[in-house]
Formats: sequence, C-alpha cells, structure tokens
Amino acid sequence: MGTLGPLFNASAPDLLTRTRAVQQHLAAPDALGEATARELLPVLRDVLRAHARRYYTHDAPLITDAEYDRLYGLLLGIEARFPGLVTPDSPTQRVGAAPLEGFEKVRHARPLLSLGNAFSLDDVARWYARCVKGLDGVEPALTAELKIDGLAIALTYEVGALALAATRGNGVVGENVTQNVRTVRAIPLRLDGRAVPERVEVRGEVYMRRSDFDEMNRRLGGGGEKTFANPRNAAAGSLRQLNPAITASRPLSFYAYGVGLAAGTALPPTQYALLQHLRGLGLPVNPHVRRCSTLEEALTFCAHWTEKRDSLDFEIDGVVLKVDDFGQQDVLGEVSNAPRWAIAFKFPAREATTRLLDIIVNVGRTGVIKPEAVLEPVEIGGVTVQQATLHNEAYVRERDLRIGDLVVVKRAGDVIPAVLSHVPEARPEDAQPWTMPAGCGQAHGLTCPRHADWVQLEGEADYYCVASDCPFQFIRLVEHFASRGAMDIEGLGSRLAVQLVEAGLIETLDGIFRLDAERLAALEGFAEKKAANLVAGIEAARHRPLARLLYGLGIRHVGKTIAETLVAHVDSLEALAGADRETLERIEGIGATIAESVVDWFAEPDNRALVAHLEALGVNTRRLPGEAVAVAGDAEGPLAGQTVVLTGTLPTLARAEAEALIKRAGGRIAGSVSKKTSLVVAGESAGSKLDKAQELGISILDEAGLLRLLQP
Ligand code: IVH
Repeated sequence: MGTLGPLFNASAPDLLTRTRAVQQHLAAPDALGEATARELLPVLRDVLRAHARRYYTHDAPLITDAEYDRLYGLLLGIEARFPGLVTPDSPTQRVGAAPLEGFEKVRHARPLLSLGNAFSLDDVARWYARCVKGLDGVEPALTAELKIDGLAIALTYEVGALALAATRGNGVVGENVTQNVRTVRAIPLRLDGRAVPERVEVRGEVYMRRSDFDEMNRRLGGGGEKTFANPRNAAAGSLRQLNPAITASRPLSFYAYGVGLAAGTALPPTQYALLQHLRGLGLPVNPHVRRCSTLEEALTFCAHWTEKRDSLDFEIDGVVLKVDDFGQQDVLGEVSNAPRWAIAFKFPAREATTRLLDIIVNVGRTGVIKPEAVLEPVEIGGVTVQQATLHNEAYVRERDLRIGDLVVVKRAGDVIPAVLSHVPEARPEDAQPWTMPAGCGQAHGLTCPRHADWVQLEGEADYYCVASDCPFQFIRLVEHFASRGAMDIEGLGSRLAVQLVEAGLIETLDGIFRLDAERLAALEGFAEKKAANLVAGIEAARHRPLARLLYGLGIRHVGKTIAETLVAHVDSLEALAGADRETLERIEGIGATIAESVVDWFAEPDNRALVAHLEALGVNTRRLPGEAVAVAGDAEGPLAGQTVVLTGTLPTLARAEAEALIKRAGGRIAGSVSKKTSLVVAGESAGSKLDKAQELGISILDEAGLLRLLQP
C-alpha cells in the first residue's frame, strides 16, 4: 500500500480514507505474512496515533471508540504474532512494565516553580501594577489560562520520543514516573508536526475528568475497593502507583501549559504562541485560553470562570495569569521560588466542615425520596448553609455518614449544597448510623396519611413513593407550579404550599384559582393584606403564556424548553390533549419519550379534569399572540431547515450565543440527537450526544467549523 506520510496533519476525510484502507488490508489478519506485516504495522500505528490525537488533543474524534478498539486489537494481534516487529513507541507499549519497588528520584533540569496567589480581583490588580512598575511603566499583555486541579508533571521528549516523566516533588527533585505516564493515552509517546525539537521538557497537569472520576469510583466501589474523595486525589493516587498496570486502568488526562527547557529549536516568543505551538506538536492544550491585552480583560476572564467553573468536565481551582511576552518575563524574573510574571487567581473556597445534626427525608414532585442533611449552620462563600443533599441511601452508606459526624460540605455556584465526606478522626463515640425509613412518615412538618411503602426501581439508586395521592408530592407540585419559571405566583412559596395543602385548602392544582380572601383567612398568620396580595398574585397568573402553564403542570420530561417547543406547534392545551404520539414526534426536538409522556399525562382522567377546571376558572390555556411561535430565522440562511444539536463547551461562544447564531441562520436547536438531526456542534467534554451522532453518521462540527459555515 506504499508508504504514507505522517498523518498528523491529515484532513479528516484523508484520515478516514486511510483508516478504511488499513481496515481493508486487515480483513484477514491471520493470513498476514511477516513481510506484509512489516509494511503494514507502521501505517496501522500511524492511523491509531492520528485518531488518538484527534480524540485527546483536538477533541474531534472521527471514529467511534469501538472502531478504535477494534483497530487497536488488530495491532495487538499482529504484534503478538511477530514480536520482533514491536517498537517501543507503538500505541500498544503503554502497558506492561513490571511493578517498581519505589520511585527513582529525578533532579529537574530547571526547578518547577510555584505560583503566588491572588484571592481577589483587587489582589490581581495589585500584582499587575507591580508588573507594570517592573517593566518601567509598560502595560504587558497577559495570557489567561485555567488552573487545572491535578498534579504537575514534567515530560522530557528526546528527538520527539517520550524519554522521562517526573512529578514536581519539591520543585527541585521529583519522582520518575515514566512507566506510569506511558500508560496515559492523552500523553503522546511521540511528538509530531514539522518542528520536533531535539530535546524539550514539556510541563503540564495530569488530571482526571469528573465524568471519568465518577465512573471509576462507581467501578471501584462496586468491586469493594477504596474510592477516592475527589478527582485530584484520584489523579495523584493513580499516577503514583508502583504498579503501572493499575495506572493503566485509571482514566487519566493531561493538559500541557509550558516548557521547562528546549534545545535544538527556537520557541515562539510569547506564552500564547507557545501554547499553540505545543498543540502543534500533538500535545493536548486546554482550549479555554485567552490573550488579554488589558488588565480588564484578564479580570473579566477570572470573573467569568468563577461563575462557570462547574460547566467544565474537569475541576479548576483558579485562573493562572502570565505575562505573555517571554522577554518581559525575563525582565521581571523570580522571587524565592515563584515567578513575578505569573499569578494564580484562586477561586473562593466552596467547602467547609460542620456537624451533621440529623438526616431527614424529602419527597420530590415525582415521588423521589431524597435524604437530606440537617447541619450546624456554616458559612460557605458568603452564604449560610444548614441543609445539604445526601442524594440517596447508597450515597450515605458509601460515605459511612453518621449523625453527629463532622462532615465536609460543598456549595458550588447555584448547585444545592452537598455533603462530601466525614472526618474519621473527629467521629464522636455516640455517632448514629442511619438507614432509610421503609415508608411515609413526616416531612414538611406534616404526617403523611397514606402509609405507602417506598420502593426502589430496578437499576436505580433512588427510592420512590408510589402513592398517587401522596400529599408530599402534591406540595412539591404546587411549589413548582407557582415557581418563578412557571406560573410565577407571587407570595406562593414552599412554606405556604405546605400550609395550603395541610389545611386542605387545595387538593388539585386548579384549587389555587379558587382561593379567595375568605378562605385564606382560615390560615394561621394570614393577615388581610397578605391574603389580598396573594389573591392579586393568583389573578395575575391567570394570564400567563401557555408555555409557562404547560411547564408548571409538571409533566415528566417537559422542561421549559420542551414546553416552548410544544407551544410553538400546538396553540392550546386542548389541542395538545388531542394530539397523538405520531403528531408530537413529528415536531423537531420532540422524541418518543417526551411524546409518550405527554400523551400518557393527558390520558389520565384526573389530568383532563384539571385542564377543564383551569379553563373554567379563567386560566389562559391558549397560545398568546406573539408567544413562542416557531422561531423565524433567515429562511434563506445557511442552516435553513436544519436541526442542530449543541453539545459540550465551545471554546469562545457561550451556549446562548451559539444558539442565537444558529437560529438566525435559519437553523433549529434540538436537545437530543436523533435521525432528524442535521448537524452536531461539539465542544469540550461532549459526551453521549457526540457518540450518538457518530453512530448515526451525522455531520459533526467544532466551533470554528460552525463559524466558517455561518460566514456570509
Ligand atoms: S504555570 C511558573 N499554568 O498550579 C509557572 N500552572 O502553583 C508555574 N497549574 O502545581 C505553573 N494549571 O501544576 C501553570 N495553566 C497552568 C496551570 C498550572 C494548573 C498548577 C501547576 C502547579 C500549580 C502552581
């Protein structure tokens, strides 16, 4: 099949063509003679490397994992038959080294410095002012990068081949973890591109993706093995394993962020260009990098990621700001063991320890039972936390949480606070283990009269209450119906929902619209003024757009977006009640699950009665003029008539921006990938949607590809 050039820069169609060619040549691998194997093996390895690179470095895989594994298996098989043809840089040579007694110490060619910290944007501004002063008044451009929460590693490549991998250690002397690092698929065993240096020491962070961490912990826990507290510990523990076979079984990732030393090549003159250069060598570089020409831009980047850190599939604990120009870096130099030209902006702490006072259970709108921690109040990031979720019974059991324990609590952004672990050393002798109650008891301050047992559904960790008239579920439904995103009934919050249901003032949702000042007067602590306000709030809610009502009804799988999509095609609740599955499934963005759920909901006589009552009580059940009509994008636009699914985080566009661009170009946004999808735009950490798209052979673009497509 002739020799093939390096595939590194091959275009996607090119690589696919070559992949298919290799697959064809390997249709009967057992019949392969040594001479053909000798010729084929390098090509097969190159193809595998190119796919691995697309996957790890460019986040743009072309073939499915299964296809990759098949090719890899072929390589393994052929190498097993011709051991003499195995090369050390073959993708198969990542595993297999014998366990070590201990790690050899390595002195770093140049110390791995640490970073000064900034705990506020003011700290950052003061650091920048010092830089300006050190540069005689010149205001330097900065490169802003994410501070990945993993562990630092120095990778030495000699003539393009990975020769040494060392941990940071104390910065001067680290540990030789080469055998282990060779098992990390995201770290290339060979550099690529045109300008491979004679010798280069690349620095970066080994980390574990959240999704990989969760899956690994589940696997370890399932096998009765010790689980890890967080992705950072998991990454560190996995890399510092004496047995490389164990490291190989751990899903480690890597991002490069700098160079320690380089010989035989000229490096680019700035940090920003260096990162692009590293990517060009085939190393994974985090895409969320920004070159900032002003301090303000850097501060905006810091503020942005403080808010958005949870949208990533890996943990970051801050932002690293670096003076971009290497000449300016040299002028600024170092103090003790940290550079003056860089700083770590650290996000505010989101964890704290406090006492677990009690564990109570809560029943959700769908009947799901959630254990909840009652905590001694503790301040985290400026907010007092006294309740936290415990998810489910297994969660409590796995962490061996007992009432009375000192526990670590995390409050991340808008997410409900969660208990992460207990502190074993601080366990009181009388700490009480907890088990899930068997059925209804008390919640929300009232006792459930149903006495229904709670059941665990097959394959689910959660317990459910299956009583159809469960008052707890109904309270949650009322809360949801009245919430801001739904009917937005002012004055009707959690507390009042409990009161109203407990007092028997409402038994179905339409009951809300029968409330009047007279009835409300029966409630404790309900003064005239308060009652009047609530009645006014209820009156206003009669005129809400249809999509809000639909969302408020709490039909399974009908979130806000789906409600809007439905309303864009069906103009009244009555019409929706009359629609069959096929009709609904024809709507873009509505799949079988949603269609079935909607049809089932309207098939319930109680629900049909509810709709009739709402209408009779003067609640708007029709699409309002101007409400959510099918989005009118440019009918001639490049995406006219196409259904686009967005997945993962895009490097520069916020999700809403990307959606707006697509709609403007005539496209329609859908939430899940199906045969009806025309195009998938995938970013960082795209998951199952991307797999599905590949499976279905749907075109996949990255952000740059999308923008090119939208160019006039
Ligand atoms: S630059 C002199 N960039 O943070 C510059 N470090 O204290 C030294 N880290 O353990 C490091 N992401 O491994 C740099 N984008 C990034 C980083 C990063 C994470 C870690 C680094 C070290 C610590 C710095």
